[in-house]
Amino acid sequence: MQTTTSLQNVANEKGEFILPKLEYAFDALEPYIDAQTVEIHYAKHHQTYITNLNNALKGHDNLIKLSVEELLTDLSKIPADIVNLVKNHGGGHANHSLYWSVMAASGKNGNISKDLQAGLDKFFGGLDSFKDQLAKSTISVFGSGWGWLSVNNKGELIIETSLNQDSPLSKGNIPLFVIDVWEHAYYLKYQNRRAEYVQNIFSNTNWEMISLRYEQALNKLKG
Ligand SMILES: [Fe+2]
Repeated sequence: MQTTTSLQNVANEKGEFILPKLEYAFDALEPYIDAQTVEIHYAKHHQTYITNLNNALKGHDNLIKLSVEELLTDLSKIPADIVNLVKNHGGGHANHSLYWSVMAASGKNGNISKDLQAGLDKFFGGLDSFKDQLAKSTISVFGSGWGWLSVNNKGELIIETSLNQDSPLSKGNIPLFVIDVWEHAYYLKYQNRRAEYVQNIFSNTNWEMISLRYEQALNKLKG
């Protein structure tokens, strides 16, 4: 089963991916992200990606054994007739699972580890500069997509963006933090004010989880 700290999101004993447990109430991200948005985003949008992924993988027992992260890491292993379904819906499942896990109830952001702070200093010139750079990149995504803090295969922290449900994993990077800029993530409260939503995300950033993921990612690269 998936744990919230794992880099691997695996199917259950029935061979189906399921919604990861939300570690906070739907209204816990208020006032920055409203309860209705969280509920619809989680229970409807995220669930639909999972349902479609499970349907695509039916009969592919060898693939169901892999975590969704492994499926996305090497899309060349996926048969041509379902590769786009796996990329889009597997990406939708993995990306949203990460999004929920790196958010925290308002006021419960936790602490940045010394190692992550050192990384943010080294690669972005400090926390505030990192936030500015990630926000700027994410706000400028054209259409539906995502802004990411990732670790590349050299162990460097990078900011990247992706369109649709594309995952950094498919480019060989390990995502640590993500901002969803599909309109379904913010439209009820913010309408066209994407920039305001993105800047407010940092009020709900789970620094403890991101720090842990950084440590896990560096260990994985060493291992
Ligand atoms: Fe989303």
